[in-house]
Amino acid sequence: MKPILLTGDRPTGCLHLGHYIGSLQNRLALQDRYKSYIMIADWQALTDYADRPERITSNVLEVAKDYLSIGIDPAKSTIFIQSQIPQLAELSLLFLNLVTVARLERNPTVKNEIQQKGFEQSIPAGFFCYPVSQAADITLFQAQFVPVGDDQLPMIEQTNEIVRKFHRLYGEGILQECQAVLSEKSGRLVGIDGKAKASKSLGNAIFLSESADQIQQKVFQMYTDSEHIRVNDPGTVEGNVVFAYLDAFHPDQAEVANLKEHYQRGGLGDMTLKRLLNQTLQAFLGPIRERREAFHDDDVRQVLFQGTTQARIDAEKTMSRVRQAIGLEYFA
Ligand code: TRP
Repeated sequence: MKPILLTGDRPTGCLHLGHYIGSLQNRLALQDRYKSYIMIADWQALTDYADRPERITSNVLEVAKDYLSIGIDPAKSTIFIQSQIPQLAELSLLFLNLVTVARLERNPTVKNEIQQKGFEQSIPAGFFCYPVSQAADITLFQAQFVPVGDDQLPMIEQTNEIVRKFHRLYGEGILQECQAVLSEKSGRLVGIDGKAKASKSLGNAIFLSESADQIQQKVFQMYTDSEHIRVNDPGTVEGNVVFAYLDAFHPDQAEVANLKEHYQRGGLGDMTLKRLLNQTLQAFLGPIRERREAFHDDDVRQVLFQGTTQARIDAEKTMSRVRQAIGLEYFA
């Protein structure tokens, strides 16, 4: 039996290169060796978009297309929609009794996001509790491995705490503890402004579906080194966004090492580097965009329907064991 892996993304928009580096490339590499579930986390996205559901619902199909266009293969990976698996809600409700409010308050990812989104006193309870629903996502499918960006490590930790508590209370062996699979390269891709990690909300990301022109524009806007005025000046590689992207995407890392040396010595211009990066990203994203454009919506919907149907069957297996362990089978 292959080990089981599960991940997901919130469909607040199309996926970008930050998603790719953070976890998509790992999912792609692992789908042959693992039984993979990939979940489109529309419920989780609604925890802070309850007033704008169309923003979420309209992006579900787009995210699915992103998956398929980078090469996630529905024959190997079960792609499904979170909100269509009622057992996830059922398990989340039971898990809520296994965590304290104080523990949720200490979750660093949630803390950060509350600050970023400026929720302060008006945190939606669903948002505050989303680590619990994420624990349900992972454990309902018995996942052992979870490819995520390092910002998600606190979720994995909290999931395992819930699993241990569940086992202490209701008996061992029902659920599975899990571990994160982090990407080998730069776990977090910096945004084109160089100020923060690439994200849709900060407007500093390059999307997988971006047009050739948009890619070029964004590459030419990238932050390099504000002290590097003349070509012959020595330049700085640390914090230089162009080099961060060359590190992440250029196929020949020896060449990137040479370029870094040249740049630091002086004599290598920003425009030359940007042109090279533009070529690199066009070569990477071009085929992805072409594949994306060839998909018919109906076929993508069919992939989601089939994945979701399969996921529901698998979900029920764990859920019936959970009900039994707690004694919630009154009519069995
Ligand atoms: N919280 C994750 C994110 O924001 C998305 C997600 C939801 C997820 N459920 C998951 C990731 C389960 C891994 C496993 O990116």
